[in-house]
Order: sequence, then C-alpha cells, then structure tokens
Amino acid sequence: MKDAVYDEFIDRLRSECDIVSILSEYVPLKKKGKNYWGCCPFHHENTPSFSVTTDKGFFYCFGCQSGGNVFNFLMKIENISFFDAVKILARKMNIPLPQKEKTEQELIREREINKLYRANEMARDFFYACLTKTAYGKQAKEYLQGRGITNEIIESFKIGFAPPAWDKLGQAFLGRGVEQGTLLKSGLAVERSSGDGVYDRFRNRIMFPICDARGRVAGFGGRVVDDSQPKYLNSPETPVFNKRNILFGFDTAHKFIKECGQAIVVEGYMDVITAHAFGIKNVVGSLGTAFSPEQAKMLLRNAEEILFAYDSDAAGQNATLRALSILRNMGANIRVILIPDGKDPDEFIRKHGAEEFKVLIKEAIDFLDYQIKQAFESIDHSNLEGKVAIVSKIVPVLAEANNAVEVNAHIARVSQSLAIDESAIRSEVRKFLFNSKKDKNVNVGKNISNLVVVNTPSIATEQAERHLIRLMCEDKSLISYIQTNLSIEEIQGEHRCEIIKLIFNEYNMGKDTADITWTMLLSEAANAELSRIMLIDIQYDDSIKMVDDCIKSMRLTQLKVLYEQHRLRADELERMGDSRFLQELAESQRINNEINKLHYL
Ligand code: UTP
Ligand code: MN
Repeated sequence: MKDAVYDEFIDRLRSECDIVSILSEYVPLKKKGKNYWGCCPFHHENTPSFSVTTDKGFFYCFGCQSGGNVFNFLMKIENISFFDAVKILARKMNIPLPQKEKTEQELIREREINKLYRANEMARDFFYACLTKTAYGKQAKEYLQGRGITNEIIESFKIGFAPPAWDKLGQAFLGRGVEQGTLLKSGLAVERSSGDGVYDRFRNRIMFPICDARGRVAGFGGRVVDDSQPKYLNSPETPVFNKRNILFGFDTAHKFIKECGQAIVVEGYMDVITAHAFGIKNVVGSLGTAFSPEQAKMLLRNAEEILFAYDSDAAGQNATLRALSILRNMGANIRVILIPDGKDPDEFIRKHGAEEFKVLIKEAIDFLDYQIKQAFESIDHSNLEGKVAIVSKIVPVLAEANNAVEVNAHIARVSQSLAIDESAIRSEVRKFLFNSKKDKNVNVGKNISNLVVVNTPSIATEQAERHLIRLMCEDKSLISYIQTNLSIEEIQGEHRCEIIKLIFNEYNMGKDTADITWTMLLSEAANAELSRIMLIDIQYDDSIKMVDDCIKSMRLTQLKVLYEQHRLRADELERMGDSRFLQELAESQRINNEINKLHYL
C-alpha cells in the first residue's frame, strides 16, 4: 500500500467515486438539506441519524458515532480489510487494479495457503458426505439426533463424520492429487513414527468445520461419540489456523453481532450450534482456549458490548475471570451471563428455550459486579479472616475501575455486606494505588481524585477542538497560525489529537491538506471523529478570532481541571497528615491566578 502507484490509485477511486451511490447499495438514503440521510446500518434504529456529505465524501452516524470515508464504510459493512475494500470499490467502479509484480516468494506462499484451504474444503465435504450419505455415519447421526441436532443444523454448519479407519481420508485425497505434504501441513494427517507414510488425524469423530471470518475452512474440531478421551480433538496450528484469531461461528454471527451491537461468547461448539439453531445468532465460541486480545478486537470491530456465557462450573468461572482481565483495558462494555441451571448454554437453551435464555441475556451482570460476586461466593466471609481475604481480592478490581460513582456504590455495598467500615475499604484501595504506582508523588493525587470526582469530559473543550480542526480543513492558511499558538499536548481528545498531529505533519511536509488522501492515514476512530467534524455547521466572521477563542476556552477548562486536582490532592494529603499538602495548596493558588489572568485577556 505504501508505494506511489497505489496512493495514486486510491486517490483516484476516492475522488471519482460517488459516495452516495455506493452507500445506497447498502442503505436507502434521502437528500435533506446539503446532506443525505438514512437509517444507520451499523446499529438498530428507526429514525435516520446516518448522514453522508457528498462534497467531503464522508459518512457519519449521530447514533453510534461510526463514520469515515467510503473505504471505512466498506470495511465495516463487509467486515473486510482496507485492501479488500479498495478491491471491491474498484470493482464496483469498473476500474482495473494496478498490477503489482509479486515476488517469487509471495507467489509460493500464496500457492501453499491456497492448497491448505482447498484441502480443508475437500475434507469438510468428505466428512459431510460420510455423515449424511454413508453407513459409517449411522451411529454419529443417531448421536446427533439424540442431542436435538436436526438435518437442517447439520447442513447449515456442515457437520460431518470422520470414519473409524486409519487412512480413508488420506487414501482418497492422495488419489485425487492432494500432495502428502499438504495433508501434513493442514493437520488432516499425521506422519507415522516409522517415517513411511501418514495416517488420518481424525478418526471416528463427529467433525465441526471451523471457519475464519471470511468463511474459509481453517481447521476442524472432532468430537468422540462415546466417553473416550480426548472429548474434542482440534486441528493443530497451521498457516491458516491460528486459534488466537478465530472464533467458532464468527463467519455467520458477525452480521447479527453488528446488527444488535452485542456479541455473546460461549465456550463450546455445541453452545454455538444450539444457540444458532434456536435463533440466537450473535453467538461465537472461543473453543475452550483462553480468550485472546485478537478475538476481542474481532468482536469490538462489530459491537460495543461483549457478553460472556461460559459454563457455570469452576473452570468456566476461571475462564470468565481471565477473559475479563484481558478485556478490562480495551474500552468494551462487558457483562457476564449467569446460567443458573444446567452446566452450559447448550443445556440451558435446550431445557428452557430461547426466550428464557434471552431473559438471562437481559439480566447479565456488569463485569465489576461479577468479580465482586465471585469473591463473595468463593470465600467464606463469616469470620474476620474471610472478610480480609475478600477485601484484598476486591480492592485491585475497584482500584482499576474508572467510574468513580460506580466504585463508590460498590464500596458502600461491600462494606455493608461485610459489616466493616467504608473508610477501611477506601483506605485499602488508596494503599493499593500507592503501591502500584512507581512515581507516587505524581500519581497519587490523580488516582485518589479519580475515586472521589467524576471525570466528565468537558463539552466546551470538545467543541473548541472540533472547531479548530474544521477551521484548518476549511482554510489551510490557519494551520501555521494554530501550530505556533497551540501545543499538541493541550489537546484532550485522543482522536482529535491524532487528526491535528497529522494535519500539522502533512502541512509541514508541504502536502496539500485539501487533498483528502491524508485522511487514509488516520485510525478508524479518528476518521469517524473527522467525519463528524465535517458535519458541524460553523459560522464566523473573523477566523483568527475564532481560533483564539477556541484556544482560550481549551486553556481555561484545562486550568480548572488542574486547579481541582491540586486542591483535592492537598485535601487528601492534609487528611493523611502529609506536610506536602502545603505545596499542593500553593500550586492550586498559582493556577487560580492564571485562570483569572486568562479571563481578562
Ligand atoms: P466442554 O467440555 O464444556 O464441552 O468443553 P462441551 O462444549 O460442553 O461439549 P459437549 O456438550 O459435551 O459436546 C468446551 C469446549 O472446550 C473445547 C471444545 O471447543 C469444547 O467445545 N475442548 C474441550 C477441547 O478442545 N478439547 C477437549 O478435550 C474438551
Ligand atoms: Mn456441553
């Protein structure tokens, strides 16, 4: 993507494409005023808050804050990479892709990968035929029927059966021209220890094809039909099967996940299959392995909320806690579905039906609550020792949470349940924060104040930053003025900071910022923010005065926040008998003076 030919090509697509007609293939749009409007395809809504600007080539949804250019739209709606979006757009516009010479190595690797997918696809068809069309599959079919798996489900998940023989698949495939090396690489066959020849990995098992996000068969899971071990045998890691990047059922679930903004993660193959069979289709399986950050990202690209419905046994509870710790810092809304009766979602749904499961979904609890609940359930707190153990388990959870109101409510509730003083818990949290920060002097006040005040992002600052960006887009002569008068550290919004940095950069490199290609370098979130900014109606007579006002408003807000922080820090230190509170007081006074000065400017 880096070379000039591609840059030019992308720019050409972008400038020649009619964003309204491309987006109209997915969303009915109506012109209203300058822009086009429709119901957002990325979240559920009945009144249109999805808008498209033709002159700027952006879309933005006021409901779910998604936005970007035509490529971002295609990436999101088709769930594809940037490169694939370029290809699709080129196809839609009937413009041939520029030919780039592939290196010998790239060609070899591509051929290898294709062979693996091809072998997997053949294996899927082979297993499926064994189950549905041969006598081998009889017992397995009965087993599946016994578990309520209808022919329809078998067909839609392409469930199959590996015959109870050492080389049925191997022989058949070698006969059809599949190389032995491919059989081994795909994990479908295993090398004999004697070194001569191979044997089938999967024998006498019900086979579940595991697909990647694009629906290509990446690997398999095979279940025994009796009590032998292991219960499930999975494909080994291969160039096309990397468990960290795959979620069972994601290829069909992702559009439902996107539709309802919510993804449900379960442990097992059967949990996914049963949920889908009962019409709950936003469900994917993490397949018994630890939930990975890559899997989290796959889901978060499609939904803001992730719900875990792991087995209710101890292993499932531990897996849930582990998954929560991975997701904690990823900015997702996370809840946990509690399954009261029956070990896993599969059993529960079969026993009680989809409606009851939907009730469980509604009642799913926040992950903070879950962790606290876990602590209470796993520790006997009738004695002092137990109470101490619970507090020490809960404290790190509370210390890491970033919603002060919530934390305070939890502290109150925990103190009540344990019959211990609230301030005791609070001081433990504080101690934890002290110890976990290396630079105590700098951080302590910040963390304590996080616990006592709610950090609301200032609307004034947000608006000022947006206006600055818009002004720079409208009139590039303002860029250098803003650059000399504002330092990048003063920008509060992460995405706006990204945008402004990029504008400065492009400008300094002598590029034309009116040319829209620079926005390609932005992250998806920053792009969405930029699209939103392009939709603001701004009016001004004197653009320099407007810039000055924006900067002043940002500085004032920032100083007020700083003032508040130092005052709180002073209070806290004073209460703890720490004489450094005097320095904090002096600092807050100094900031106050600065605020007054700015007011009179
Ligand atoms: P479970 O043991 O909970 O199986 O493992 P399950 O999904 O309820 O299976 P059924 O209902 O008995 O058929 C959960 C998941 O962990 C992985 C599988 O993905 C399984 O679905 N697993 C489990 C393995 O990979 N290997 C095993 O031996 C067991
Ligand atoms: Mn089960």
